[in-house]
Amino acid sequence: MLLTKLWVVLLVLLFQKCDCKSRTNITLPSDLLIGTASSAYQIEGAWNVDGKGESIWDRMTHNMSFAIKDGSNGDVACDSYHKIKEDVDIIHRLGVQFYRFSVSWTRILPTGFPNRVNKAGIRYYNKLINSLLKRGITPIATIYHWDLPQSLQDLGGWANPFIQEWFENYAKVLFENFGDRIKVWVTINEPKQICSFSYSKGVHAPVIVSEGIGVYLCYHNLLKAHARVYHLYNTTYRPLQKGKIGINIETTWFEPATDSAADKSAAERMWQFECGISAHPIFSEKGDYPKLVKYIVAKRSKEEGFPRSRLPRFKPEEISFIKGTADFFGINHYATLKVRPMKLLKGVSELNDIGAHVVGGRNESWSYYFQRYFKSVPWGFTKLLKNIKYRYQNPDVYIFESGVPDEGALNDQHRIKYFKENLAAVVSSIRDDRVNVRAFTVWSLMDNFEWQFGYTYVTSFKPTFD
Ligand SMILES: *[C@@H]1O[C@H](CO)[C@@H](O)[C@H](O)[C@H]1NC(C)=O
Ligand SMILES: *[C@@H]1O[C@H](CO)[C@@H](O)[C@H](O)[C@H]1NC(C)=O
Ligand SMILES: *[C@@H]1O[C@H](CO)[C@@H](O)[C@H](O)[C@H]1NC(C)=O
Ligand SMILES: *[C@@H]1O[C@H](CO)[C@@H](O)[C@H](O)[C@H]1NC(C)=O
Repeated sequence: MLLTKLWVVLLVLLFQKCDCKSRTNITLPSDLLIGTASSAYQIEGAWNVDGKGESIWDRMTHNMSFAIKDGSNGDVACDSYHKIKEDVDIIHRLGVQFYRFSVSWTRILPTGFPNRVNKAGIRYYNKLINSLLKRGITPIATIYHWDLPQSLQDLGGWANPFIQEWFENYAKVLFENFGDRIKVWVTINEPKQICSFSYSKGVHAPVIVSEGIGVYLCYHNLLKAHARVYHLYNTTYRPLQKGKIGINIETTWFEPATDSAADKSAAERMWQFECGISAHPIFSEKGDYPKLVKYIVAKRSKEEGFPRSRLPRFKPEEISFIKGTADFFGINHYATLKVRPMKLLKGVSELNDIGAHVVGGRNESWSYYFQRYFKSVPWGFTKLLKNIKYRYQNPDVYIFESGVPDEGALNDQHRIKYFKENLAAVVSSIRDDRVNVRAFTVWSLMDNFEWQFGYTYVTSFKPTFD
């Protein structure tokens, strides 16, 4: 009910302000849930308050502030640790049905390990969850949204296979303490950003540059860690708590620049290296990494003189252990990009297998972007959803992030246009393509700390190309 009201208000605003060609109303399917989201490091602040331990983002922003565009950090951020009431009030005023937040690992386990559970941390999330429930807002929790304990990073972080056990132990504490009220869990937010931005390009904490090597160790351990937590929930907690659990993958839509075979295969490579590498092992019928990724990395590794593929191989029992470990496909969608094979660019690491983002690479297996990143491309969203349906056995899809940044101006016409067009695209995917989209999430609840961009406007996704 509340939701209908919200949308009427929003649509009236759209009609008043938006100079859009189409003025038709969007009727949202009654079973499509609408929500908003945040993540712990971006909003909580209180980085060392009440016993919280140091995370990799605390370490990076403090010790390498030069790597953050404005030298800022999340020490205070939106001060959500002290502002539960204010946060829940604004969520309630928005009229949304759910709120997806993430739990800070070091607020719960200051050492990273379950030997010491921080009671103040448990109290904070209990209070948040209870306040949401009291207002009729469904809480959805992300277990890991990038703020690894520094203590675990010192031991290799996601490159260390023991992370599987550490992550499972941490998740167990969350299920035990919050599982009676949290009915939707996201294990991990955005494997690509965790593995590629952090262990390949080194633009995110812990700033490790290990192109073509660290990135694959990370994926390998992360997928197994995710699967362990899924099985833990499925076997031990689901029978009592009766919730759902899945993973969130950032999915850009890659459109071939032209109809040429070369551009089409560039788009396919891009999909498989950027999304398939984490989606295929979980959601495809066969499991395992995509064939194309295995083939390209093995071939290039051999040419480069490595004794075996830089992409580790899953054992058959690991393939079945990971396959099917998600009750839904969580997607974060922001953009559509056109791709074509990349020309040789100077100054690029030899081991970058696709030349993702704005870095270049050599030869055949490379693609690159040549459009501004954030742009409303509703047909791209439609194609993406159809692609997920057909590639991955028609899963339930939870759109867990979508949105567009602004310059801090309140007159955000471009954002109104973006949401209007993209919601219409989602609705048409549900109606016409019968994609099982169950939820749409506006990112983010409020302005917050935007990782390497600090508190600045994210403009630098603008690709450079020759
Ligand atoms: C949109 O929906 C509202 C509320 O139901 C209605 O008052 C309005 O006339 C509709 N506008 C159009 C263009 O259909
Ligand atoms: C802090 O960063 C510098 C490089 O700027 C590095 O040499 C040093 O080891 C770092 N200290 C810690 C505690 O990570
Ligand atoms: C989850 O548990 C159910 C009930 O035991 C089982 O049938 C199902 O196969 C499990 N799912 C996975 C992916 O293992
Ligand atoms: C690809 O690499 C091969 C040899 O490694 C070279 O002969 C060819 O010119 C390269 N193609 C492009 C487009 O750079």
